[in-house]
Amino acid sequence: MSATARASNDPLIHQWMPFTANRQFHESPRIIARAEGIYYYNTRGEKLLDGSSGLYCIPLGHGRREIREAVTKQMEELDYAPPFQFGVPAAFRLATEVAQMTPPGLNRILFSGSGSEAVESALKVAIQYHRVRGEGQRMRFVGRERGYHGVNFGGWSVGGMVNNRKAFGLGLPGVMHLRHTKIPENQFEMGEGTHGGVNLADDLERFVALHGADTIAACIVEPIAGSTGILVPPQGYLKRLREICTKHGILLIFDEVITGFGRTGQAFAAQTFDVVPDIMTMAKAISNGSIPMAAIAVREDIQQTILDASPPNTVEFFHGYTYSAHPVACAAALATLKIYREEDTFGRVRDLAPAFLEQIGALREIPYVTDTRGYGLLGAVDLEPEGAPGARGFKVLCKAFEAGLVLRNAADTIVLAPPFASTAEQISEMVETMKKVILAN
Ligand SMILES: Cc1ncc(COP(=O)(O)O)c(C=O)c1O
Repeated sequence: MSATARASNDPLIHQWMPFTANRQFHESPRIIARAEGIYYYNTRGEKLLDGSSGLYCIPLGHGRREIREAVTKQMEELDYAPPFQFGVPAAFRLATEVAQMTPPGLNRILFSGSGSEAVESALKVAIQYHRVRGEGQRMRFVGRERGYHGVNFGGWSVGGMVNNRKAFGLGLPGVMHLRHTKIPENQFEMGEGTHGGVNLADDLERFVALHGADTIAACIVEPIAGSTGILVPPQGYLKRLREICTKHGILLIFDEVITGFGRTGQAFAAQTFDVVPDIMTMAKAISNGSIPMAAIAVREDIQQTILDASPPNTVEFFHGYTYSAHPVACAAALATLKIYREEDTFGRVRDLAPAFLEQIGALREIPYVTDTRGYGLLGAVDLEPEGAPGARGFKVLCKAFEAGLVLRNAADTIVLAPPFASTAEQISEMVETMKKVILAN
């Protein structure tokens, strides 16, 4: 049937769905119609547990009244103002609050609308910082295999997910990738693996030896690689990266789009792992997923160096988005951060995590489970592939949906990222449902 013929009678055909098997979806749609708390409802009104906090972005659960009210109030007061050469009060308040949560020194906050945009912003700050200091030859970036830094050209270039790269050509020149951190020696270790940390991080020294430190602008990693299946850094890995970056004047960027705002039990993974980067990205949970919002936190002196390099009355950083610091998104984020503070949400993560990780770890007893990993409220289970790579994982995602659980798959890895608002019983129910679905598939 031609596309036009299909269009006339298929109500789903016009939306080209992102990161989705569109043709399969048309045959077997998974429509989510409503949400409340940590539950979704499908079009038949059946309840589904949200086992992935949306896309890691809605830790407080759906429909928080405080956020809705703050958004409504902001819409009534000021729905939009141009962010270039003008400012809105909510953005300054939010920047101040975010700067109070980030590690000391990372207190200059630049807003954007998505994690992908935050990554582009971070890469461009790094380049410009070096240029204004007379080190414009520092153009190379170091990313990591199995890293995910969004879908824009800089982000996918430093990212290390094969499918996100191969259809799109060459990407940024001069990008190198560290080896990923999932090694057989750490199989089934929950938390930080005990093997390989320093050795894997030393890849960066090899790039320095090969290309010269003075050609490398920055090294970007997710403290825990999320989208490729929760790759927790082995002990000492991030500290070693920090040491090498400091030694060679390479900026260290932590992409905390998933780990930011409590996922590891502290505001940021930088604090959990006690390693301070030079720039960090954040998004998702900053506004509890309610309104698109993202940011980067930049070391104060990096921003100052860039500001000081331009003549007075001129724009110092030629970068920004129509929706940077959108007042409604800022209001949503301010309401979200208030809840995090008042309800000690990150403390709740620390309380819930040990039992969750124990339950994920116990799935190693299933014969075709080949690895379990996790940290904080992030847990992953690798399944032995059956047929094409990823087929089994996708089947589990579809069957879990039918069984009343929304989870994530990354190829044949099944990921749970419960909302922080979950009770211990609800988390057990998620793991139990996931287990049943895995056993049946
Ligand atoms: C670590 C990381 N960086 C960047 C992104 C991109 O964020 P967005 O989808 O909001 O553009 C993601 C999204 O999952 C992510 O996990």
